[in-house]
Amino acid sequence: MYQKTLQSVFLACIICAISSSALAEPAPEDAFDYRVAVMTTLKGHIVAASMIVRGLVEDDGYLVNHALGLANGVAEIHRVFQEGSAVGETEALPAIWEQPEKFKAVMEKSEEATRNFHLVVAEGGDKDAIGAAFRSVGMSCRGCHDDFRVPH
Ligand code: HEC
Repeated sequence: MYQKTLQSVFLACIICAISSSALAEPAPEDAFDYRVAVMTTLKGHIVAASMIVRGLVEDDGYLVNHALGLANGVAEIHRVFQEGSAVGETEALPAIWEQPEKFKAVMEKSEEATRNFHLVVAEGGDKDAIGAAFRSVGMSCRGCHDDFRVPH
C-alpha cells in the first residue's frame, strides 16, 4: 500500500514536471533578458551586413549568413513580447500590448523585409537590388522602434 502511494506520488511528480516544463512562460525578468538578447543579435547582424553592403568589408559569401540571421531573429520577435515582461530597464512601450494589431502589422512588415533581403542575397542579386532590400530592412526595424520603443 505504502509502496503504491509512493509510486503514484512519484508518477504525478514526473507528469507535473513534464507538463509544467512544456507550458510555463519564462519569469518576466528572463523574458525581458531574452528579448534584449534577441534584439542584440539583430544589431550584430545588421551592423555587419551594412558594412558589407557599403563595401567596407568584402562579402566573401558571408552576407547571406547575416541576412539569414536577420530573418531568423525577426521571425522570433512574435514570441519575445510576453505580457508583463516590461520590467527593469525595459524600453518597451505599453502600446505593444495596447495596440496588438498595429504591433503585429509592423512586425510582419519586418519579417517580410528580412525574408526578402535574404532571398535577394541568396539568389545573387546585384549591388542595387541588395542595397534596396537592405534599406527596407533598416526601415522596418525603425518602423517598429518609432512607435513601440522609448525614443532615443
Ligand atoms: C515589432 C517591433 C520590433 C521590430 C520589428 C524590431 N524591434 Fe528592436 N526593439 C523593439 C522594442 C520594443 C525594443 C525595446 C525592448 C525592451 O527594452 O524591452 C527593441 C530593442 C532593440 C535593441 C536594443 C536592445 C538593448 O540593448 O536593450 C536593438 C539593438 C534592436 N531592438 C535592434 C533591432 C533591429 C536591428 C531590428 C531589425 C532587424 C529590430 N530591432 C526590429 C521592437 C522591435
